[in-house]
Amino acid sequence: MVEFTVEQTTRPTSAEQRAALMADPKFGRVFTDHMAVIRYKDGQGWYDAKIIPRQPLQIDPASTVLHYGQEIFEGLKAYRGKDGAVSLFRPEANAARFVASARRLSMAELPEELFLGAIKALLKVDRDWVPAEAEKSLYLRPFMISNEVFLGVKRANEYLFIVLASPVGGYFSGNGSIPVWVSEHYTRAAIGGTGEAKCGGNYASSLLPQQEASDNGCSQVLFLDAKERRFIDEMGGMNVMFVRKDGSVVTPPLGGTILRGITRDSILKLGRHMGLTMVEEPLAIEDVFKAAATGDITEAFACGTAAVISPIGEFRRKAGSVAFGDGKTAGPVTMKLRNALCGLQRGEEADPFGWVHPVAL
Ligand code: PLP
Ligand code: COI
Repeated sequence: MVEFTVEQTTRPTSAEQRAALMADPKFGRVFTDHMAVIRYKDGQGWYDAKIIPRQPLQIDPASTVLHYGQEIFEGLKAYRGKDGAVSLFRPEANAARFVASARRLSMAELPEELFLGAIKALLKVDRDWVPAEAEKSLYLRPFMISNEVFLGVKRANEYLFIVLASPVGGYFSGNGSIPVWVSEHYTRAAIGGTGEAKCGGNYASSLLPQQEASDNGCSQVLFLDAKERRFIDEMGGMNVMFVRKDGSVVTPPLGGTILRGITRDSILKLGRHMGLTMVEEPLAIEDVFKAAATGDITEAFACGTAAVISPIGEFRRKAGSVAFGDGKTAGPVTMKLRNALCGLQRGEEADPFGWVHPVAL
């Protein structure tokens, strides 16, 4: 077990201020009082693990991350159960994906023990920030930047790993179904690229198509495969699933270009456990437009840590739009999966998979 030194803030947020901040936190704008930090240097390994007051970073303007973008991150949530206990959901899967992302970006690989240790040490200090309401949670954002002072293009020899914590509500404003824009020009990832890694660069390149989505009144952008612009990959910050009229659920397969979503994987396994037919197969965008129009596809939803399961009301593209179901209300299969997943994550349902990871505070 790694020991984290703890430096408590001298200006803690008062209980009243915290309650006000957590009343309607939305997503990603409210932060707890502390952060976890671990440093790495080639030849020395991981060192200086600590919990410190949340504060700005001081980095050299020649730091490699500012020039060549070696940055990776994760996203997971801490939940408070009805009994007040705090748990994480499949954090080992996030730790493993963080290692895979580091490998693809040629960065230092953080051992799982340190990834989990940093999160738990931070939760211990900031435990009062884990919301109790069913629709809220404490979003955890582990990330790593390269931090060598050098302008040559090469793998950096120094890294900084940090965990931030942010109480959150829903990712999307409003509770209804979201409209999604189909990006027919810009793509997200090609085979052999970084699509499967959770690196900041993937999100930087998604912002222009995401703006195109916003300009067309949509909440998310849907990307197609980079080779033919024919098959559905995923959205800017979440995976996508569809429900056929026979009740089966279908999602694009993992092929190296899409993120291996932990929510996606959990829904596939949970759905099978519930007796649903869960299918991973390529979905051509034209077929989805046709099937939604004929009623062969009745529901669509986004899935991810931030999105949880968010119903999709319609797909829009230059040539027109198509609605799923009535385009407004979440369908029955979407709701059934959402309730099952949320019940499991909050410890309200039995956990046959061993996914819920209690945190001793
Ligand atoms: N796809 C992208 C591009 C994402 O950013 C995310 C969010 O993390 C997901 C999918 C869903 O992944 P997960 O379910 O592990 O949060
Ligand atoms: C997440 O769900 O954790 C994400 O990373 C999506 C987005 C907020 C970047």
